[in-house]
Amino acid sequence: SRGVGILGTGSYLPEEVITNEDLEKIVETSDAWITSRTGIKERRRVAAHQATSDLCYQAALRALDSSGVSADELDLIIVGTASPDMLFPSTACLLQNMLGAKKAAAFDLEAACTGFIYGLAVGSQFIATGMYDKVLVVGADTLSRLLDWEDRNTCVLFGDGAGACVLGQVEQGQGILSLYLGADGGGGDLLKLPAGGSRLPASEQTVAAREHFIKMSGTEVFKFAVRVMDEAAKKALEQAGITKKDIDFLVPHQANIRIVDAAVRRLDLSPERVYVNLDKYGNMSGGSVPVALDEAVNEGKIKNGDVVLLVGFGAGLTWGSVVMTW
Ligand code: ACO
Repeated sequence: SRGVGILGTGSYLPEEVITNEDLEKIVETSDAWITSRTGIKERRRVAAHQATSDLCYQAALRALDSSGVSADELDLIIVGTASPDMLFPSTACLLQNMLGAKKAAAFDLEAACTGFIYGLAVGSQFIATGMYDKVLVVGADTLSRLLDWEDRNTCVLFGDGAGACVLGQVEQGQGILSLYLGADGGGGDLLKLPAGGSRLPASEQTVAAREHFIKMSGTEVFKFAVRVMDEAAKKALEQAGITKKDIDFLVPHQANIRIVDAAVRRLDLSPERVYVNLDKYGNMSGGSVPVALDEAVNEGKIKNGDVVLLVGFGAGLTWGSVVMTW
């Protein structure tokens, strides 16, 4: 099989900033509570005229630019999102049209916060087998549109954003060294958006019961996250035939600083080798890992030849990890 790597990255954050102080005016919470329990200080929110595909479009343009690939070279577009513009057509199809990527196949991939890592895993297979040469993978969410702004347990945690990368062939032994994906549908109830699908279609009752908003059992998700971050990191390292000492840089899913810190402790990493931006953006779900990756690359924190570990978890439950050389 062929070597597969990331040729370029891009990201996009909507302009509006919502601070913890802003949230104090909406729900009974405090900057002190949010900061100490999560590490989040502020997050971004999409403008009224924007939807997920608009964020994807900006991130994709930047990823195409940084990889030197044009939209008409793309063979496939995968969008990892849990907040598509609508149930169908897919956000990937909307994006394909916006980009004018005429020859690209396109589909959405639903693995919530693990969407980008799942997308990397799926997209890279097409290149490894030789079926496709250039694949655009985007992770993007606008969970602000799906949050219950009366529920302080969830509305303080999330933000909007999109990140993207272009995958292509690289030298054998370079690029992606290992991939690990996991799922446990038994934990699906811990984090869900109950209505609006075929189980509970929109009705006056579902609206009245606030079932079109995200529901989360925070403490359970927290415990799950700490466990699977560790497991996912170990599995990907094992499959790549390396140990934690070989990691140059970690890009974790940005949900909660305490979850990141737990992973960092288990991996014995010093703080300068871990990217954290959740203080500025909160949990951007599918956008979290690719935005962090793009920023780490642009800030020169990830350098050529570095061994990089991406690790994430999310609703589903899902989790996953990637080891690659940069
Ligand atoms: N402001 C003030 N108080 C709050 C707030 C808030 N914003 N939110 C909850 N509380 C209260 C609760 O009501 C509860 O009060 P009670 O005990 O009187 O009922 C109390 O704080 C809960 O406190 P703890 O249990 O100590 O909170 P914890 O330390 O577990 O932190 C948190 C809660 C931040 C939600 C944590 O559990 C967490 O981060 N969980 C993981 C969430 C996550 O990562 N989700 C994303 C998954 S990825 C995806 O796919 C989208």
